[in-house]
Amino acid sequence: MTVAGPTFALVVAANRLPVKRVVDADGTTCWQRSPGGLVSALESVMRGRDAAWVGWAGEPGPAPEPFVQDGVHLHPVGLSPSEVQEYYEGFSNQTLWPIYHDVTVLASFHRNWWNTYRAVNHRFAQAIAEVAAAGATVWVHDYQLQLVPSMVRTIRPDVRIGWFDHIPFPPVELFGRLPWRRALVEGLLGADFLGFQRAGDAENFLRACRRLLGMATKADTVTFTPPGGNASLRRTVRVGAIPISVDFRGLEALSRTPEVLARAAEIRASLGDPKVLMLGVDRLDYTKGIRHRLKAYEELLQDKTMAPPEVTLMQVSTPSRERVAAYRQLREEVEGTVGRINGEYSTLGSAAVYYLYHFYPRAEMAAMFLATDVMLVTPLRDGMNLVAKEYVACRHDLGGALVLSEFAGAWHELHQAFICNPHDIEGVKRTIMRAITVSEDERRSRMKALRKRVEDYDVQRWAFRYLEALAKAPLRPGTPGSGSGGQSGTRPVAT
Ligand code: F6P
Repeated sequence: MTVAGPTFALVVAANRLPVKRVVDADGTTCWQRSPGGLVSALESVMRGRDAAWVGWAGEPGPAPEPFVQDGVHLHPVGLSPSEVQEYYEGFSNQTLWPIYHDVTVLASFHRNWWNTYRAVNHRFAQAIAEVAAAGATVWVHDYQLQLVPSMVRTIRPDVRIGWFDHIPFPPVELFGRLPWRRALVEGLLGADFLGFQRAGDAENFLRACRRLLGMATKADTVTFTPPGGNASLRRTVRVGAIPISVDFRGLEALSRTPEVLARAAEIRASLGDPKVLMLGVDRLDYTKGIRHRLKAYEELLQDKTMAPPEVTLMQVSTPSRERVAAYRQLREEVEGTVGRINGEYSTLGSAAVYYLYHFYPRAEMAAMFLATDVMLVTPLRDGMNLVAKEYVACRHDLGGALVLSEFAGAWHELHQAFICNPHDIEGVKRTIMRAITVSEDERRSRMKALRKRVEDYDVQRWAFRYLEALAKAPLRPGTPGSGSGGQSGTRPVAT
């Protein structure tokens, strides 16, 4: 193929670019950092590398010209208004998202959404092929781009391809509902290495290969012949769990700055210096368990276990997927509940809930984290939940307590958090009270252990481990020799 523009040794592809275009009041446009965990995680990994990022610029229309921001070459992919509807809002977020999150809401299946998903994945694959240097490493991200690995392999068999799943991979009983399950698995198997958040997700994927498609799996590998291919094209793909993390040092440094420390004190003061400030920070998504959390809090107020002004809850809800009906309905419900709680339990000058429907910059988030006594991270299902790790990274003072759902991927690493099952409202109430009343010594030693884990396994280490696993696949890193085979063990391991 003819390569017209510059090419790069590392190509990251994700649904979104790390920036989105915003138009100021005076009509001038600029690029602003996009919200979302993936962007925060990869930003620090890309800096200083010979790298390009392929992704959608966040608004419908033709692709803007490629440009460079903070040293990274950004290569936009255009999506028409109907593609935004069918590929992004439709297939990605109303078919795959619910299925991959335990069908917290019902999934919708539409053949035209699938066709558009396939067409858009193909456009991404072509864009990747254009910017990848000979023998480049291509790192594809997330559920929106599951067909991209095999499409890239067809166009550019010379590159090494990895895919990382930021969200859960569903059990075979749910994944099997998808009429396009075979195409999705075969799309992914174009990669050399598939990374997941938890060993359970990798196991679910292997089970789907084995049970639904009759492929041969051995330990953490799957061996198969690509569709239409002959036996000589038989390949082995390795899967593994490499949980994503945060930029621990960056967040810690930010939260130690005088500005952030002062802002944290200001936030507390502006809320009337409550004895206990609780905080929830989520994209406004039904998987995040916001309704369950509010219910538990409302009952604690009802029981008179707590009351403002001594206790207050700050709930930051970042706007998300606002054109999808389930998200609009969730917003109505959450805001209705907040209104009811405030009507019933607020007093003049002290609200029971401070509800903020905004996206905040990193420094403001760090200040909120520092101001908070009890951080509530209670999703019903979550691939990781980077907010939990960000909170821990910011608490250099060893203050604060983390209440964490056992259904967040983060729980598999953050065992010293105060764990709860968000469906068990009595349990959530007990866990919140335990986090509030635990001794200072125990609280600090839990925070210390949590911080150690996140410091040791930060986002830079995640990227290093992932890229090392990708370079070595289908062998495990540390395995001598090359070529397929040589795996041992009986289940996917944390690499
Ligand atoms: O974690 C899943 C994810 O899709 C990320 O890729 C993204 O950062 C976040 O959710 C926000 O989603 P969206 O791009 O749909 O706003």
